[in-house]
Order: sequence, then C-alpha cells, then structure tokens
Amino acid sequence: MSEARQILVTSALPYANGSIHLGHMVEYIQTDIWVRFQKMSGNQCIYVCASDAHGSAIMLRADKEGISPEQLIENVRREHSTDFADFGVAFDNFHSTHSEENRVLSESIYLKLRDAGHIATRSVTQYFDPEKGMFLADRFIKGTCPKCASPDQYGDNCEKCGATYAPTELKDPRSAISGAVPVLRDSKHFFFKLPDFDAMLKGWTRSGALQESVANKIAEWLDAGLQEWDISRDAPYFGFEIPDEPGKFFYVWLDAPIGYMASFKNLCERTPGLDFDAFWNKDSSAEVYHFIGKDIVNFHALFWPAMLEGAGYRKPTALNVHGFLTVDGQKMSKSRGTFIKARTYLDHLNPEYLRYYFASKLSRGVDDLDLNLEDFVQKVNSDLVGKVVNIASRCAGFIHKGNAGLLVHSDAAPELTEAFRAAAPSIAEAYETRDFARAMREIMALADRANAWIADKAPWALAKQDGKQAEVQEICALGVNLFRQLVIFLKPVLPSLAAAAEQFLNVAPLRWDDHRNLLANHQLNAFTPLLTRIEPAKIEAMIASSKEDLATAEAPAATTGNGELVKDPLAAEIAFDAFAAVDLRIALIEKCEFVEGADKLLRLTLDIGDAKRNVFSGIKSAYPDPSKLEGRLTLYVANLAARKMKFGVSEGMVLAAGPGGEEIYLLSPDSGAKPGQRVK
Ligand code: MSP
Ligand code: ZN
Repeated sequence: MSEARQILVTSALPYANGSIHLGHMVEYIQTDIWVRFQKMSGNQCIYVCASDAHGSAIMLRADKEGISPEQLIENVRREHSTDFADFGVAFDNFHSTHSEENRVLSESIYLKLRDAGHIATRSVTQYFDPEKGMFLADRFIKGTCPKCASPDQYGDNCEKCGATYAPTELKDPRSAISGAVPVLRDSKHFFFKLPDFDAMLKGWTRSGALQESVANKIAEWLDAGLQEWDISRDAPYFGFEIPDEPGKFFYVWLDAPIGYMASFKNLCERTPGLDFDAFWNKDSSAEVYHFIGKDIVNFHALFWPAMLEGAGYRKPTALNVHGFLTVDGQKMSKSRGTFIKARTYLDHLNPEYLRYYFASKLSRGVDDLDLNLEDFVQKVNSDLVGKVVNIASRCAGFIHKGNAGLLVHSDAAPELTEAFRAAAPSIAEAYETRDFARAMREIMALADRANAWIADKAPWALAKQDGKQAEVQEICALGVNLFRQLVIFLKPVLPSLAAAAEQFLNVAPLRWDDHRNLLANHQLNAFTPLLTRIEPAKIEAMIASSKEDLATAEAPAATTGNGELVKDPLAAEIAFDAFAAVDLRIALIEKCEFVEGADKLLRLTLDIGDAKRNVFSGIKSAYPDPSKLEGRLTLYVANLAARKMKFGVSEGMVLAAGPGGEEIYLLSPDSGAKPGQRVK
C-alpha cells in the first residue's frame, strides 16, 4: 500500500446572485465524483467550496429587493447548499467569501504583495453615474454602437455587429442603473503587477499543472504580454475595504479565489488535526486541485498562481478544467425550457440519473458536453436499471426464497470474479485521471459479462428442477457478489444507490479495496428496488416547469415586483402616452385554483365588469391556499398581449409587489372600487 495522499479539492465558488442550474452541476458533480473516489480509496481528501458573495451585481440586486446584501447572500448560500446536498455533492465545507477568514487572508495577501512591491497605483478615468453616485462597470453602461449605430448596446461590445470598444466610444451613453447620463471622472486605482510573474507563469503553466489545450490558450496570452491587473473598485461596493485606503475595495475576483483558502481555514479551525499550513506552505507536500469551467481559466491560471507566489504560498498542483453543458445540442435556452435549474430537475428526477449520465460523458478534455434528453433516458434505463440493478433483482429472490437470505460460499465462476478484480486498477486509473467516461464503459462491460453469465446459467430454470437447489444458490451467490463489485466501482458516482445496496447486502460502507474479497456465508437483508426507470413523461414535466420558471420571471412587475428582472432599465422613464396606453382595471377574483402540473402558478378567473378573464400568475409560493383570494379585488392589466402557456392561454396579468417566495403582495384598491373601473 502506498502512503495516503493529502489532497485539497475545490470547485469554483458559485455567484450568490442567481440559482444553480444544470450547467453548474457538471462541475460540482465532476468534482464530487473525483473526491468520493479519493476518499473511498483511503486518501485524505478535503473538498471545500463557498458562495462568491461580493461585487456590484449583488449589491444592486439586494438594493432592488429591498434587503441588505448580507441577507441576500445568506439566503442564496442556503439555497445553493441545499441544491448541492440534494444532488449528493458532499462538501466538507461550504463557506462564504464574505467571511472573517476571507477578510483576514485577503488583507494579509494584499499586504504581502504590496510590501514586496507588486502593487502599483494610478489614476483611471471612468464613467460615473451622478444620480447613483457610483462608477459604472462596462456592463452597467448602455448606448448606441459606434460602429453600426444599433441602439441599446452594452459598454464593451455590440451584440448586433460584434464590435468591441471602450465605453467612452459609445454614442448617447446612459447608466443602465438609473438611466442618467454618465460623466467621466478620475479615481485612484490599485493594480497587481502581473508582469512581475511572467517567468514563473511561463514555467508553471508548462509544468503539467494544466491540460494541454488550456496551456496552449494561456501561452497565447503570455506571448501577447501580461498586463497589470486592476484589483480595486470605488465605494459603494459590496466587498472588503483595502487596508489603509478608505473608500477603496478589493475587486471581487481578488478575494474570490482566496475564498478557497478561507473556506479551508474555517474548516481547520473546527477540525482537530487539520493543519492549514500543512496544505498551503510553500514547501507543502499536500496536493491542491481546482475544478473550474473554461470561462474562468485566466483568473486561475494567471492571477491566482501569481498572487500565491507573491504572497509566499504554494501554487495549485493542477487546474482541472471542463467544458460547457449544452442540452440537445444547443446552448441552454430559457424559451425552449432547457435552461433547467437544479431545483427544477430535483422536483422531477432522481439526482443519480444525472450523476451517472454526466459521468458517462466526462473525460479529461475541455470539450463541451451535451445532455441529450432522449439519450439520457435510454442510457440510464439500459445501463443502471437494465444492467446493474437487474443483476441483484434477478438473484436476490432465489437466495431469500431458497435459503432464507443466507448467501452461500460460491466457486461458480472464479474466472469471472477474477476478471472483475483484474479490471479494478484500470477503472481506478480512469477515475484518478478524470476519464469517467472510460470508467463507466469498463464497468458496464463487466455488467454485460455478469448478465450474460447469469442468463446462461438461468437459475430461474434450474429452480424449477429437483435437486438443483445447491446450484441455484451458488449461481445467485456469485451474481450478488458480482453486483457488489459493480456497486463498489460505481460508488463515487452513485452514493445513494451504493448506500441502498449496502443496506441490502448488510455490509459496512464499501471501500475501494473491498472489491478484492467476496461475501460468503453471509446473511442478506430484504431486497427492495434500488432504482426505477426514468419515465419520459417526467422529462416533459421538467421542461414544462422550466418554461414556467421563465413565464414567472418574464412578468416581474406582475408577479414579484422584482426590479432585477426589468430587462431594460433605460426605459425606466416613459412618456405619459405610454403609461396611458396601459389598460389598468379593477378586477374581482372570482375563482382561484391550483394548476395541475405547475409548481408556481395559480389560475385566476377574473370578473372585469363587462367580461371574464383567465389569468395564470406565478404567485403560488405566497398564496398556498388559493381559495383565500376568492372574492378579493385587485389590479389588472387588461390589454397585455395574451400568452399561450402549456396550461392554457393567460389573458393579461394581475399586479403584485415584493421580492418573491412567500413575500408576494397582491395589490388591492380601497374599498368601494368596482370591478371593471379603469385606473387613472
Ligand atoms: N464566481 C465565479 C467563480 C469564482 S472561483 C474563485 C463563477 N461563478 S459561476 O456561478 O458563474 O460559475 C461557477 C462554475 O460553474 C464555473 O466554474 C463555471 O465555469 C461553471 N459553469 C457555469 N455555467 C456552466 C455551464 N453551462 N456548463 C458547465 N459549467 C458551467 O464563475
Ligand atoms: Zn454594432
């Protein structure tokens, strides 16, 4: 036995300003599988993550929801942690970048860089929103494209013609936050002198720490010459203030990767024997891996190792970069219903299906991977249910019926158990090198052999013959042992299935090395179905729900009043005519009911004086008892274009305020108002 390795693993820290979707899950599932493999192989492997809580986007969203950024990030942190836990992603710690540990580490790393001469300062001229009193990042400025004159383009590039430019080149610039005309203003900024680390980075990025295609991409940037990196932002900003520089804050990407360390530090502080320095000292023999998506490679392969080097810490052993998820061959799309939130998936399907499917698609490369929904159903049903679970369900019954659940010693096919044992090192190597697709192929090839052997022996036929009971028991004992070996090999991918199998097998949690021995003269527990087939209807329901997520998000003023979703804040100011064009009326809610198959919608039947209207509204989370709304007056937009939904046509919308969830407040007129009266 080689000595146990000490390994620290991270996944990228998810932004605390949105929900987790299946694209994110590629990364967290990939990382979790690798970590589980290390743990069950006897290595010390610690998996940490955190909410990425800072930045102006989070500040502005909290503003609009009328809560503090602290409240917002805590809510989102909680939501994210349950999503991950329910997908079987088992962090050893899920912390926050807005934490004391991170503040202390960020300040100290910055001060070490500053004192070593790696920080420069100079004045930067930038657009400033005089109404909001803040500097505007490029994406918060909109205007007319200087190249093609398309209106309403962002400050750094044009979505119409693809041109990139400086925000100062935009014609008619406006603040996307307040609509005000921005003014140019100077401010002192702090820069991290990345070029100081040019030689180190040229070496490190070619040291085996990066996949080849990633190293090649980075080499292009290195050859083009490194630039100093602007690490400061002016108040107001939600983040950490820079030491000795009141009113200046660290840019979110400065403290985000330090959040990896901070989460680990927080874990060390409450775990006896876990030593922060042993993992992060310059001469540490521990391994550190960051799993990330290909969009954030520059931060992890350039800035981060340079910061670590400059502050006297070790650098990561390697970055494990993955590609992006597509659904049915296309970018995830809200209107197609393929922008699927983690929670929406969980509402309809078993997480282990997706864990297996991703595993079967993931290899070492950075290629995008496709969730083909038809293939997903077919593969999960045929591999997991048809091949793996089938072995146990075919054999268990005979052992329970014929031998009271006592699994006998069996030499029925030593060549087969030996072949399973012999396959283990190759499967282990595939896990270790993140070639999960190969691991799954090799495991399923073994499952095919096991099934073919059982089919050939046909214990169900023998069981009907006299004097064959001993043979039936030997065959089935071997079958269950082969099943057990497959479960060991699949355990990193399917932790819940493995736990249910351990219960049936009546064994302690299985470890990788357990594949070497077999059960004999061993009492089994009752067999309960371990996994059921995916019904295609569940997929349809999930897609429908995802479209529904969109429907509720698209009419924010009507449903949640959540200003974050107003598509074009520049349009905030409208002419009186535009307002007068809205046919706003008093409506009586005659009937209010649940919509079958819809998670968020209620169906309202409205009396608007001269007519009845049918409206779907995404307010169910706040009104769990819809009948309570019946007989109430509310405000109704009568001339909104009708919207065809899966459940029927929605004719107009009702008005409500509040951040969402339980806090949605339907608007009401004063008493005396009558259905059909126009709002003026
Ligand atoms: N907050 C930063 C990471 C900071 S790490 C110090 C961030 N957050 S994120 O929420 O946008 O993304 C988290 C991870 O999910 C990233 O590694 C990102 O590449 C990955 N993915 C986000 N969308 C994805 C897909 N559609 N497909 C695969 N991975 C995707 O970036
Ligand atoms: Zn343009």
